[in-house]
Amino acid sequence: MIKLNGTKKINIAVFISGKGSNLENLIKCSKDRKSKFKISLVISNNSKALGLKLTRKFNIKKKIINFNNSKLIEKNLLKVFEKKHINIICLAGFMKILSKSFIKKFDGRILNIHPSLLPKYKGLNTHLRAIQNNEQYSGCTVHFVNSKIDSGKIILQKRVKIFKKDTAKSLAARVLIQEHALYPRALNKVINDL
Ligand code: GRF
Repeated sequence: MIKLNGTKKINIAVFISGKGSNLENLIKCSKDRKSKFKISLVISNNSKALGLKLTRKFNIKKKIINFNNSKLIEKNLLKVFEKKHINIICLAGFMKILSKSFIKKFDGRILNIHPSLLPKYKGLNTHLRAIQNNEQYSGCTVHFVNSKIDSGKIILQKRVKIFKKDTAKSLAARVLIQEHALYPRALNKVINDL
């Protein structure tokens, strides 16, 4: 178990693979004077992830990691987290699967955001599948990560209406706006329960 570091702010590591709009939003929320968390580290499996540019802009440490040799890599990552007193991990568009042992070490402190109303539409292409199934609503979910994909305990969800004219793209854009509102709320809820 990695213990809380005794400072007032909770240290967060955010894992990304792509654009990083959720990362950017979490960074901005963390700048609020009253924020209980600080984004202390960004991890990416993709050196070309656009979101990595934010680390420069906001002066945040980053690590690019090849997760293919996952056991060893994750072991080293745990050491880095211990050194940096990382308390919570937020997955935000992170496209790799973490090992069971890693998840166990951070049990109850790894969060993920998923663009559907879980338990519906786990995995990829959630918006298209929801539209094709004539769902009235889609949405987003922040949940704890366990060893099964998109299956951990739900922290918060937000519904988004699907309109007749919606495409996967237009729906994704509306859901993303709600993701940005939901992730910080869910993170604060978890922090308050620590
Ligand atoms: C979001 O829709 C998130 O729910 C999903 O991947 C997307 C990441 O977007 N897991 P961004 O990289 O945060 O902009």
